[in-house]
Amino acid sequence: MGFDTNNKNIIITGGSQGLGLELAKLCVLNGCAKLTIVARTESKLKQSTSTLQSMAPGKVLVQYFVADLTLPESSQALIEFTGAPDILICAAGAADPGMILDQEPQALKAGMDINYLTCLYVSHAALRAMAQKQCPYERNILFISSVLAFYPLIGYGSYSPAKAAVRSLADTLRQETLIYNINVACAYPGNFLSEGYAKEMETKPAITIELEGSSPAISTAKCASIIFNKLKRGQQSITTDLIGFLTQGTMIGHGPAHYWFIQVFLSSLFCFIMLVVSATHRRKIKKELSK
Ligand SMILES: NC(=O)c1ccc[n+]([C@@H]2O[C@H](COP(=O)([O-])OP(=O)(O)OC[C@H]3O[C@@H](n4cnc5c(N)ncnc54)[C@H](OP(=O)(O)O)[C@@H]3O)[C@@H](O)[C@H]2O)c1
Repeated sequence: MGFDTNNKNIIITGGSQGLGLELAKLCVLNGCAKLTIVARTESKLKQSTSTLQSMAPGKVLVQYFVADLTLPESSQALIEFTGAPDILICAAGAADPGMILDQEPQALKAGMDINYLTCLYVSHAALRAMAQKQCPYERNILFISSVLAFYPLIGYGSYSPAKAAVRSLADTLRQETLIYNINVACAYPGNFLSEGYAKEMETKPAITIELEGSSPAISTAKCASIIFNKLKRGQQSITTDLIGFLTQGTMIGHGPAHYWFIQVFLSSLFCFIMLVVSATHRRKIKKELSK
């Protein structure tokens, strides 16, 4: 398996800020030929494009594409603009924390659209183009899910189900792309300190913050570098912290496992531990919600 950005045509959705932008920097530093970052806000895209250009002047073609990727036609237009990518990174996404019962149906739908449909439509359009040409080297698609795909948490009702769907999409596409020599990886980050994280902290319920206590946020640059290095090592199911690694163990299923014996052993152990963790969480939730 080879995740190699050198001389490649790369698309990063959500590349104007946060994790997408940090991954874009790593692609530029690692010699990509053409990089397209995609988001809805043009001013941020312009600023990030010039930041990226200044990192390797004259060596990389950095461009941006303004699109709302919840719409299928935007993905189609994007691929017509860039051509078939060698690497597609789907980092667009956002959490809008709150109790499901307090949120309106439109907000619940937006969670699915922003976190799942942005991955589905763009990977669909890109893969159709990628499948049309034979390639001597392996091409790559990376989805950014969340550790919440393994352990859904109260307060993330409009988010965790969409991130679990992204995981399922990655696992399904990985089978379908075998004959095209296209590798599909999925990352399940824990909290990291991006603009999106700062925004979600504004509405995150107190109980969610309390239950997340054991998972401190890392820097966005560190998160990107963990993902990038694990991709280079051929990992297809990537976690960025210990909690992620342990909870992933409880959900291995038929998905990729990189330390199989350790993970299967830990998963049995962790299933018992989770009995206690879940009971503690339920007790705290009941106490907080009945205040
Ligand atoms: N931060 C965390 O703690 C954390 C933890 C686990 C997983 N994640 C996931 O990691 C990814 C990156 O997170 P982040 O915190 O770096 O996010 P962020 O700072 O909020 O950046 C999100 C990016 O996605 C773009 N975007 C959002 N909706 C879009 C749409 N409909 N069409 C096109 N672009 C869109 C945003 O630009 P515009 O708004 O201008 O469109 C922005 O470039 C997300 O998928 C997130 O769910 C985050």
